[in-house]
Amino acid sequence: MLANTHDLIPIAAPDIGEEEEAAVLRVLRSGRLAQGPEVEALEQEFAEAAGLSHVVAVANGTLALQAALHTAGVRPGDEVLVPDFTFAATANAVIAVGAVPVFVDIDDHFLIDLDDAAAKVSEATTAVMPVHLYGLMVDMSALEAFASRHGLAIVEDAAQAHLARRGDRAAGGTGIGAFSLYATKNMTTGEGGFVTTGDEELARALRRFRNHGMVSRYEHTEWGLNLRMTDLAAAIGRVQLRKLPEATRRRRENAGYFSAHLPGFFVTPDVPDDAHHVFHQYVVRVPAETRDAVLAGFRDRHVGADVYYPTPLHHQKAFGGFARRDCPAAERAAAEVIALPVHARVGRGERERIVVAAVEIAEEMT
Ligand SMILES: Cc1ncc(COP(=O)(O)O)c(C=O)c1O
Repeated sequence: MLANTHDLIPIAAPDIGEEEEAAVLRVLRSGRLAQGPEVEALEQEFAEAAGLSHVVAVANGTLALQAALHTAGVRPGDEVLVPDFTFAATANAVIAVGAVPVFVDIDDHFLIDLDDAAAKVSEATTAVMPVHLYGLMVDMSALEAFASRHGLAIVEDAAQAHLARRGDRAAGGTGIGAFSLYATKNMTTGEGGFVTTGDEELARALRRFRNHGMVSRYEHTEWGLNLRMTDLAAAIGRVQLRKLPEATRRRRENAGYFSAHLPGFFVTPDVPDDAHHVFHQYVVRVPAETRDAVLAGFRDRHVGADVYYPTPLHHQKAFGGFARRDCPAAERAAAEVIALPVHARVGRGERERIVVAAVEIAEEMT
C-alpha cells in the first residue's frame, strides 16, 4: 500500500511495477514498436475479460469516441445527445466529427436522464451517448428502448467503466463503446483506448478507420486516420488487464467501507441493485456552501479529495454556443460532489484515515 501514514493519499495512483517494466523491455528488444502482436493480444484478452465480441485498440479514449461516432454514422450537422455532467472529451468527440452536442440533464446517479433526453430530441438527432460516469453503468435496456424509439445510434462512453456490468449487460456491449486507458483509469497504457462492438462489419470498419481506410497495402477504400496504439503501450495494458479483476475488487471493497462508515453529513452513492459498479471514482455529495471547506479539510489531513467535475459542460466557454436550456441537476451535482481516493492502492490503513478525516470534518461543518 502507500508508504507512510502521513503521506498524501492521492486521488489516483497508477499501479505500475516490475511486470510492466519487463513487458516494455521485451517489446523494446523485439524491435517491433508500433501496432503489432501485443495490440492484437490485448484486444483479444480485453474482449474475453469484459465479455465483449470485438475490441479495437486505439491511441486514446477521445479518438475511441470519435471513431465510434464516425463508424456509427454520425455526420456533420447531426445532433448528438450528451450528458451535461461528464468530462469534456465526450462533447469534443462529437464536435470532432462535425456534429452538435446537445446537453442533457442527469438523474440521481449522475447518469443521463432519459426524460430530459426525450425532450431534447429533434429532427437532426442521430445518436445518444450514455456515459457510465464514475464506473456505474447506465441502464442500457432502458437506453436501448429510448434509442430505438427515436431511431438513434448508441455510442457508449465507457471511459471510466472497465469490467462494469448492469443486469446481464457489459459496459461497451451495446451499440459502439469507447474506453479510455489514460494513466488514472482503472487500467492504463499511459494513453490508450478501446472501441468495442458486437457487430463484425462495424469492427472491420473501425479497423479501417484506425489505419487510413486501408484494406490492403496502399489500397484505401475510404478515408481514415492514424489512431493506432503502439505495441509498447499494449504490453503495459496486458499486464494491467491481468491485475484489473483484483484492483476492481479492492475498489469495490473500499467503496463498501466508505458507504458503511462515512458520517451522515456525506451523501454516499446509491448503487442500483442490478449494477456491478467498478468505482473509478467514489463520489459523495455535501451541501454546496460547505464544499470548499470540506475539500480544504481533507487536504489539510493529507487526503487528496477532488471534484469531478466542477462545471457542467453547458457552462464551459467552449460549449456555451450549444446550450439550449439549463440542466439543473447537473448544475447541482457540479456544486456538491467530492471524490475520495478509492483506488486499489488505498489499503485498510488509508481508508480508515479517510473516514477519520471525514468524521472530524463533518463535526466541524455541523
Ligand atoms: C468520461 C470520459 N470520456 C472520455 C475520456 C477521454 O479519454 P482519454 O483521456 O483517453 O482521451 C475520459 C478520460 O479522460 C473520460 O473520463
